[in-house]
Amino acid sequence: MGTFGCCWKIFGVALAAIFLFFHDLCASEKAPNYTFMQNATAAPPISYYDYIIVGGGTAGCPLAATLSQNASVLLLERGGSPYGNPNITNLSSFGAAISDLSPTSPSQRFISQDGVINARGRVLGGGTCLNAGFYTRAASDYVRNVGWDGKLVNESYEWAEKLVAFEPPMREWQTAVRDGLLEAGVLPNNGFTYDHLYGTKVGGTIFDKQGQRHTAADLLEYANPSGLTLFLHASVHKVLFRIKGKPRPVAHGVTFRDATGAKHKAYLKNGPKNEIIISAGALGSPQLLMLSGVGPADHLKAHNISLVLDQPLVGQGMSDNPMNAVFIPSPVPVEVSLIQVVGITHFGSYIESASGENFAGGSPTTRDYGMFSPKVGQLSNVPPKQRTPEAITKAVEDMKALDDAAFRGGFILEKIMGPISRGHLELQTRNPKDNPSVTFNYFKEAEDLQRCVQGIETIEKIIESKSFSKFRYDFMSLPMLLNMTASAPVNLLPRHSNVSMSLEQYCKDTVMTIWHYHGGCQVGMVVDRDYKVLGVDALRVIDGSTFNNSPGTNPQATVMMLGRYMGVKILGERLTSDVVSN
Ligand SMILES: Cc1cc2nc3c(=O)[nH]c(=O)nc-3n(C[C@H](O)[C@H](O)[C@H](O)COP(=O)(O)OP(=O)(O)OC[C@H]3O[C@@H](n4cnc5c(N)ncnc54)[C@H](O)[C@@H]3O)c2cc1C
Ligand SMILES: *[C@@H]1O[C@H](CO)[C@@H](O)[C@H](O)[C@H]1NC(C)=O
Ligand SMILES: *[C@@H]1O[C@H](CO)[C@@H](O)[C@H](O)[C@H]1NC(C)=O
Ligand SMILES: *[C@@H]1O[C@H](CO)[C@@H](O)[C@H](O)[C@H]1NC(C)=O
Ligand SMILES: *[C@@H]1O[C@H](CO)[C@@H](O)[C@H](O)[C@H]1NC(C)=O
Ligand SMILES: *[C@@H]1O[C@H](CO)[C@@H](O)[C@H](O)[C@H]1NC(C)=O
Ligand SMILES: *[C@@H]1O[C@H](CO)[C@@H](O)[C@H](O)[C@H]1NC(C)=O
Ligand SMILES: *[C@@H]1O[C@H](CO)[C@@H](O)[C@H](O)[C@H]1NC(C)=O
Ligand SMILES: *[C@@H]1O[C@H](CO)[C@@H](O)[C@H](O)[C@H]1NC(C)=O
Ligand SMILES: *[C@@H]1O[C@H](CO)[C@@H](O)[C@H](O)[C@H]1NC(C)=O
Repeated sequence: MGTFGCCWKIFGVALAAIFLFFHDLCASEKAPNYTFMQNATAAPPISYYDYIIVGGGTAGCPLAATLSQNASVLLLERGGSPYGNPNITNLSSFGAAISDLSPTSPSQRFISQDGVINARGRVLGGGTCLNAGFYTRAASDYVRNVGWDGKLVNESYEWAEKLVAFEPPMREWQTAVRDGLLEAGVLPNNGFTYDHLYGTKVGGTIFDKQGQRHTAADLLEYANPSGLTLFLHASVHKVLFRIKGKPRPVAHGVTFRDATGAKHKAYLKNGPKNEIIISAGALGSPQLLMLSGVGPADHLKAHNISLVLDQPLVGQGMSDNPMNAVFIPSPVPVEVSLIQVVGITHFGSYIESASGENFAGGSPTTRDYGMFSPKVGQLSNVPPKQRTPEAITKAVEDMKALDDAAFRGGFILEKIMGPISRGHLELQTRNPKDNPSVTFNYFKEAEDLQRCVQGIETIEKIIESKSFSKFRYDFMSLPMLLNMTASAPVNLLPRHSNVSMSLEQYCKDTVMTIWHYHGGCQVGMVVDRDYKVLGVDALRVIDGSTFNNSPGTNPQATVMMLGRYMGVKILGERLTSDVVSN
């Protein structure tokens, strides 16, 4: 079927004049012609570049596209291409990718020691290929506190927005949540904006009007094809350092393996400004530093890894913003929507919502792939030892046995800012493909729990609001609704559910992830303010692992922005130094 047919199907009769416009939108759904993209099996045993970037994710793609303008760049991504996979591109299949547990899945599941099931990207585009699409900038205060250049920050956001950000279609459920937030006093109404402002707003989305996802991989359209080499299915095992005769270790190459297991090496060309940049995400970046010998000496010794630099702070400061939600069964049908509206409160809690016949996404016949299904992991935060495949299968079966009406509705959720609670990451094995072990310590700090409680209280006000009344059964009281979520068959945790349970207990019992985990290579601990790894040369980390707090209400806009922002900065330094040395 041609692009013409696709437009026709979606839009029915269109005027000739607007056909061209639609034609352009449909054309963008096709895989781009990336001449620089190759399978790592085609990589030479040894090759040389000005920059080597590990991880073609949310930050790695914009960074590589930018650096390729004036330098030779190698981008190494362990996963495959996102193009042509409907599990990634189709809004209504949200959940299919993160429930796919096969070794070739674009999502790699991990389970934190806290007992919450989570997901990480394993595909070109990284987390932007799996996420709920909400696109929103960081607060001006956040930008100031981090010390970024506000003008370049804005230009870098705009650079990404031109290709991957859209205004969402506001249908009835999302409109009711927005109006309910206003009734609940989350004011003012800021309309549609990417900006982070107190009050209620409609934010951006990386899904276009046709419900097609645009990812960080699309930002490679900005690349200079003659400056970029991209290998897919390329797992980096190690960053290599020169140590002898140097005042401190100097990164100068990487080893990676292709899909057949064959080993390749890539090195930096000679040049004072050439660098290796790790953009492997909040789990991948601290893990790769440790595998390369940069980390806590005792821990590396226990895994027989030769020490390059004793750095006890690698893997510290891991955080995941807890998400808690209330499910509201609806007497009337609701649209399938991911996140479109957010309430930004003064007490540090962000209120968002997702809806659909099957909890947003997935097949109504199998009920397997919704945003809140046991296969996806949400609402099944069982302590690791009790989470047997049998237990998960039983929860899926219990869910299938429910009446259809139980699946009509949606969730209103809250995520807290920060968070303040911190955890840590350790290696489990020396294989970079294996997940490290992660502990987030949800609600360890009392302020985090308090923010959750206030968030749930606001959700209660939205449910009680006039605007929301048509999506709610009159006979279901608030305690009943809470009791239902807290004791739903999709949740396998031993519960304290009863109608008089405290909101504190509700928060702890029903904690989930909103997948905004970050930290592990934080600024001031592992990298400096230019993202250079402390104690070694020619190595930076640029991605969500460097954050002390999650930016904005949702982080992806800022992670993409950071890739572009640092690319511009690094090129600026490179070109200045060329002028000086000439
Ligand atoms: C299900 C889900 C829903 C979300 N919803 C939203 C949302 O609605 N809005 C929002 O703003 N944010 C959302 N997020 C969060 C956001 O997508 C992430 O914070 C962001 O994508 C993280 O970017 P990153 O660059 O730090 O890591 P990633 O994008 O994960 O990039 C890391 C890349 O490195 C690769 N890699 C790792 N190790 C190696 C190695 N050794 N060798 C080679 N390659 C390697 C990985 O395959 C990956 O592609 C969501 C995330 C998920 C998972
Ligand atoms: C892709 O681009 C290359 C180089 O510009 C060109 O030779 C090739 O024909 C293009 N392929 C398609 C399918 O457009
Ligand atoms: C850097 O690349 C851009 C885009 O390709 C080009 O316009 C600019 O002239 C280049 N700068 C230098 C110093 O080469
Ligand atoms: C996207 O998913 C919806 C619902 O499952 C389906 O109707 C539609 O055909 C899908 N589109 C594509 C391009 O796969
Ligand atoms: C899509 O996801 C489903 C279920 O998670 C999986 O069985 C299927 O293989 C996936 N398809 C692709 C193209 O990855
Ligand atoms: C960046 O843009 C925001 C609005 O998105 C604006 O408030 C801010 O003043 C801008 N900063 C600079 C330095 O231009
Ligand atoms: C890459 O090469 C490997 C090994 O030959 C193969 O298994 C894999 O399917 C290839 N992937 C792509 C996307 O071509
Ligand atoms: C480390 O090496 C020692 C000695 O060869 C071996 O006994 C031990 O099992 C190794 N440990 C790991 C984690 O590989
Ligand atoms: C609370 O949920 C439990 C478990 O589903 C159920 O047995 C109980 O009747 C519910 N209580 C109320 C008041 O709804
Ligand atoms: C309800 O649960 C709380 C714990 O959240 C417990 O303290 C209380 O005793 C329970 N009440 C009943 C009647 O079971």
